[in-house]
Amino acid sequence: MNAPPRSFHVKSFGCQMNAYDGTRMAEMLEAEGMTATDEATQADLVVLNTCHIRERAAEKVYSDIGRLKRADGTTPMIAVAGCVAQAEGAEIPRRAPTVDIVVGPQAYHRLPAMVAAVTAGARAIDTDMPALSKFAQLPVRRRQGPSAFLTVQEGCDKFCTYCVVPYTRGAEISRPWGQVMDEARALVDAGAREITLLGQNVNAWTGTDGRGLAGGLDGLIAELDRLPGLERIRYTTSHPNDMTQGLIDAHRDVGKLMPFLHLPVQAGSDRILKAMNRSHTRDSYLQILDRVRAARPDIAISGDFIVGFPGETDADFAATLDLVAQVGHAQAYSFKYSPRPGTPAATLDGAVPESVMDERLHALQALIWEQATAFNAATVGRRTRILIERDGRKPGQRIGKSPWLQSVHLDTNAPIGAMLDVEIVSAGPNSVGGVALSG
Ligand code: 5AD
Ligand code: SF4
Repeated sequence: MNAPPRSFHVKSFGCQMNAYDGTRMAEMLEAEGMTATDEATQADLVVLNTCHIRERAAEKVYSDIGRLKRADGTTPMIAVAGCVAQAEGAEIPRRAPTVDIVVGPQAYHRLPAMVAAVTAGARAIDTDMPALSKFAQLPVRRRQGPSAFLTVQEGCDKFCTYCVVPYTRGAEISRPWGQVMDEARALVDAGAREITLLGQNVNAWTGTDGRGLAGGLDGLIAELDRLPGLERIRYTTSHPNDMTQGLIDAHRDVGKLMPFLHLPVQAGSDRILKAMNRSHTRDSYLQILDRVRAARPDIAISGDFIVGFPGETDADFAATLDLVAQVGHAQAYSFKYSPRPGTPAATLDGAVPESVMDERLHALQALIWEQATAFNAATVGRRTRILIERDGRKPGQRIGKSPWLQSVHLDTNAPIGAMLDVEIVSAGPNSVGGVALSG
């Protein structure tokens, strides 16, 4: 028998869905009577909620585990969750015997039971993928800041050749309509004014509404638009192939849907897109953006890019730069390709030298930086509404979000969670400055 843990610390890496999962695990542990602590070294239980996308992901987890040793040589109860837990499974406690719990992204509703098993002297490993069962078993959401995440879809059937997600998160599944609406209502009751619908392929969401009619994400968004108290709706991450006309039209028709679209394209060369198994071309991607902009001309476009995919030539990379120049991004993430064990691309020849990858990443990021700066500059003079999210650096300063997901810095005493009319008066690459027009 071990003493049951009374305090816990959840450390989440990676994407917004992992952040959501981390929050849900924390809520569950709190519902069990445990208290959250800010310092991992002071917690009785540490949950490492891992991400497999980061480079040398498994190696980094093992070194994170090593760092959990306390000054007196003891360790807390350690749970490894997230995508590395799913991918490595029982290998983790074999290599790191201080780990007590390994729990995959589809099994974490069982975390309290696993903690109880460890308290009783066992070790607990669960990387099952039972479709959907976890959500119904999580506690109702009670505490919430103004901007909330809500997972509506998980998993991926696209099998891009570089990506581990289809293996760690499993097949595409959609949470049922009623369950999503219940969680949305609970989030609004708990203080959320904005909800971001999450999914690895969020725009592949399908479900059946209260009248039994099948529909896609646009239908769910239209229903959320009618939810009293909710002011704003966002969704991420989308795949170009699931960008239906209905969802595009929602950007014109649904008042609460914000003018922002994260639609990764990854590369600008059709040859590379084919090798990545992206199942869209450069032109078909650009045509989607044309239709999106026809529906909502001011929409902010965001994306993900990979440089240095095996076989990428200078000409292929130039095609990526050219595509970025055509799109005009409000923001974008870019990564150097790194092989993930078990994925088809990991066995490809034609590795791009590290120094070439560095140069390409640098050139791409410089262009994206220029575009983000230009995007922000073009919003100066606009009068818009922002959602106050947090305190600024000095007293009397707050930071809010514009409809285009810009951080807006301004002087105001408006409370966190308020919606405020502002004029955007200055711009930098990562944020803009605003002046309150009311309140
Ligand atoms: N190498 C580099 N970047 C990757 N991504 C996914 N897998 C890899 C990999 N093996 C990037 C993609 C994806 C984002 C979440 O991470 O751009 O959209
Ligand atoms: Fe990975 Fe491609 Fe699925 Fe995105 S669409 S999660 S990059 S396999």
